[in-house]
Amino acid sequence: LNNGLALTPPMGWLSWERFRCEKDCKKFPNSCVDEELYMAMADRMVADGYREAGYEYVHIDDCWAAPQRDENGKLQADPQRFPSGMQALADYLHEKRLKLGIYTDIGYDTCEGLPGSEFYMESDANTFAEWGVDLVKTDGCNADLKEMDISYPAFGFYLNNTGRRMVYGCSWPAAQIVLGKMQPNYASIRQHCNIWRNFLDVQDSWENVKGVFKFYGENKQNFANFSGPGGFSDPDQLLMGDYGLSIYQQKAQFGMWAMMTSPLFMSVDLRTIDPKAKAILLNKNVIAINQDPLGAQGIMLYGISNSLSVWRKPLAVKGSFAIAFLNEDDQGRPMPFSIHLGDIGLTNVNGYNVTNIFDNIHMGYFKPTSTLNVLIDPTSIVIVKAVPL
Ligand code: DGJ
Repeated sequence: LNNGLALTPPMGWLSWERFRCEKDCKKFPNSCVDEELYMAMADRMVADGYREAGYEYVHIDDCWAAPQRDENGKLQADPQRFPSGMQALADYLHEKRLKLGIYTDIGYDTCEGLPGSEFYMESDANTFAEWGVDLVKTDGCNADLKEMDISYPAFGFYLNNTGRRMVYGCSWPAAQIVLGKMQPNYASIRQHCNIWRNFLDVQDSWENVKGVFKFYGENKQNFANFSGPGGFSDPDQLLMGDYGLSIYQQKAQFGMWAMMTSPLFMSVDLRTIDPKAKAILLNKNVIAINQDPLGAQGIMLYGISNSLSVWRKPLAVKGSFAIAFLNEDDQGRPMPFSIHLGDIGLTNVNGYNVTNIFDNIHMGYFKPTSTLNVLIDPTSIVIVKAVPL
């Protein structure tokens, strides 16, 4: 979507994967979906270096809304859990140089049965603008899948019409692919949305994350071609610091999200996050690959399922690339792998300056014919950057 926003993938914190739809704040005072949760995460983002690293959206998901609209049909936040109201939360974040992401649904109800924006598109767009919202995730439950080709652009029209610039997140292709086995119209999606979910919800397991790698590796309809400044494929949230992935697998997820030029939304309790997980989230070199201004989505060059795959992402500096070696194999020793740069399309005769990105180690100068050796930990990743000489 050409609205001047999301020129690189948006970064922030999103509540859904980790905190879901917990409404019982008596029983779970520290992990229910309420204004204090978002304020606490905002505080951590500022104090612990996340904002400086680029994470800026504090993003609410489903379950923030009151079960009924008000007497004028206006959406309202749940009064028990958001007593100060959404505008106050937006103000709180803006004072901290952060931004507010909110959630609605293109259907009549959200996935959790709260009011969605069908029949209220103009009103809801205006409400979000009035509150000072900066990003609107629009889910795809309880809606006609074919009609999405019209309803998503329509809601985008109303968002744009408010005059407030809001990143528009769509679940349009995800719903069509997952629920309808349809082939989404990616050209139209790219024209109308800033980010688009196109696959299943991420869950806290390596199996699930491998499914994402497979889907993005297959790249059906060449959806990677539609990513670029202003519009990006969204494979869903990051799992660093949660329960299901080893630290090696967390590296693999983060590295691959960088290669796939994906929005980077953490979903973790930042008050208690493990330092190793935090270090992954704050890895400047990997973030720089994700945020590279060219905005190209990396693609899989070849892969053996449950074993090694090689991915390549072109970078803004002419002729330079990030190359990822993803090892899905769980054999208990690092996998050695060797390759000639020329075999993966790096043919500059003067050669390349090659750096290992995660560990920031200079690996040396390589000609297209020289051999690059890497050692990839089980269920993990090595990413190198190759800059032509
Ligand atoms: C489905 C979406 O894909 C999830 O990310 C989350 O927003 C839930 N719905 C909330 O109901």
